[in-house]
Amino acid sequence: MPTRRRSWAEPWKVKMVEPIKMTTREFREQALEEAGYNTFLLRSEDVYIDLLTDSGTSAMSDRQWAGMMLGDEAYAGSRNFYHLEETVRDVYGYRHLIPTHQGRAAEHMISQILIKDGDVVPGNMYFTTTRLHQELAGGRFLDVIIDEAHDPEVMHPFKGNVDLGKFQAVIDEYGADHVPYICIATSVNMCGGQPISLGNLREVSELAHRHGILVVHDMTRVAENALLIKEREEGYADVPMADIVRQICDLTDVATMSSKKDHLVNIGGFLAVNDPGIADKARNMVVIYEGLHTYGGMAGRDMEALAIGIRESIQHDHIHARVGQVHYLGHKVADQGIPIVQPIGTHGVFLDAKRFLPHLDQDLFPAQTLAAAIYADSGVRSMERGNVSAGRNPETGQNRRPHLELVRLTIPRRVYTQAHMDVVAESVMEVWDGREAITGLEFTYEPKYLRFFQARFKPVE
Ligand code: F0G
Repeated sequence: MPTRRRSWAEPWKVKMVEPIKMTTREFREQALEEAGYNTFLLRSEDVYIDLLTDSGTSAMSDRQWAGMMLGDEAYAGSRNFYHLEETVRDVYGYRHLIPTHQGRAAEHMISQILIKDGDVVPGNMYFTTTRLHQELAGGRFLDVIIDEAHDPEVMHPFKGNVDLGKFQAVIDEYGADHVPYICIATSVNMCGGQPISLGNLREVSELAHRHGILVVHDMTRVAENALLIKEREEGYADVPMADIVRQICDLTDVATMSSKKDHLVNIGGFLAVNDPGIADKARNMVVIYEGLHTYGGMAGRDMEALAIGIRESIQHDHIHARVGQVHYLGHKVADQGIPIVQPIGTHGVFLDAKRFLPHLDQDLFPAQTLAAAIYADSGVRSMERGNVSAGRNPETGQNRRPHLELVRLTIPRRVYTQAHMDVVAESVMEVWDGREAITGLEFTYEPKYLRFFQARFKPVE
C-alpha cells in the first residue's frame, strides 16, 4: 500500500541556522520611533520573526547552493543563461526569455513596449509596482476582478477571478485598440493571495484574444495558484502540478516574473514572451536598464540557482507544505475570532485592520498602525497593504481609501518553524486584546512614488 501523507509537514530538514534576536518592548518602541512607524524602515537585526515579505527571503536548497558554485560569470553567453532559458521553455512553455534583476524590471519593459499614451490596462486587482509602471508608460489601470475579492469576509474559492462583464465593458467603452493587454496575476497578492481558476482564465484568454488583446501573466506566485486549482477546482485533483502550471501559462502570451517568490531565490526575475517581435524589443531595452540580454542584472550563479528553483517550485510536496504552513497560522488566528481575509490564501495571513481597529478612520491608517503595534508587542514584522500602499489618486490627489485595509503576515518559504507560527499567533492575540487603546498614525514624510516603502509617521494625539 502506498504511504499516505498525514499533514503538511515539510519535505526537508534544516542544515544551517541563522541566529535571530529577541528584544525588549522598550527597545522595540525606540526602534519603531526611529523607523517612523514604518516596518520597511526597521533594521532587520532588530526583528525577531520577519514576516514583512516572502520576496527574496526564502531558504535555498542544498542543490541551489551547489548550483551557485557552477556560475559561469562570462559577460556574454553564460552557460547558466542557456540552462535557465531551457528550463523556462520546458516548464512554462514561453519561447523567449529576457532575464532581469527582479520582477519590476520586467514590468517596466513590457509596459513601455506595449502601452501607448491614453491606453487602459485592465487587471485582476492592482499591484503597487505593476500599476506604477503602467502609469509611467502613459496607461491607466482598471480593476476588473470580481467584487468578492474586495470583501475580506466573503468565502469564494477563486477570488482572483476576472469579472468577464467588467472586462467586456472596458473593451466596449475604450475600444480594443486602446487596451493593449489585460494583466492577469496568479495568486493575487493585494487581496490576500487569492487564486484565479483555470476555467475563468480560459474565458478571459478567449475574450482577450477575440479582440486582439494580449494576456500578460504576472506569474510571481503561479505554483501557489496551481496548488489551489488542484485542491479546489473540479477535475484537477489528479492532474500533476507541473501540468496545471503549464496549462495556466499556455493561456497567456507574456509573463513577468519576480523569481524572489515562487522560485526560491534571493534575487532574480524575467520577462518571458512568445512573440518574437516583442522579444526583440525587450532584448534591446534590457541592455539599457539591466545588462546584456544573457544576464539581465543577474550573476551567472544567480541564474543557475534560479533554474534549479523553478523545478523545485512545482514539486507538490514542497508547495503543499508551503501553503500548509500559511493555513496553519491562518486557522490559529481565525479560531480566536480575529478578523482575517477569508478564505486563507497562499503566501500569508492577511489581518483585516478595518475590523481589528474599527474605531480608526481609514486616513489614520489602521493597517500601518496595526503593523507597528504587532512589532512593538513581539518583534514580529509585518507589512501594511491598505491606504498607504494604495497611494493617492493622481487625478484628485486624495488617498485612494481602498476597500481592503490589511496587514500581511507574509511567510518566507522554508524559513520558519511551526513554533514560530505559534509565537506570531500569540502576539496577534495579545494586540487584539489591547486593541481599544490603539490610536492612529499621520504622515511626517510622504514620498512621491510607492510611498509605503519610505514614508514616515507619528502617532496622532
Ligand atoms: N508582482 C507581484 C504580484 C508581486 O508580489 C511583486 C513583488 C512584484 C510583481 C514585483 O516584483 O519585487 O521582484 O520587483 N512583491 C513583493 C511583496 C515586493 O512583498 O509582495 P519585484
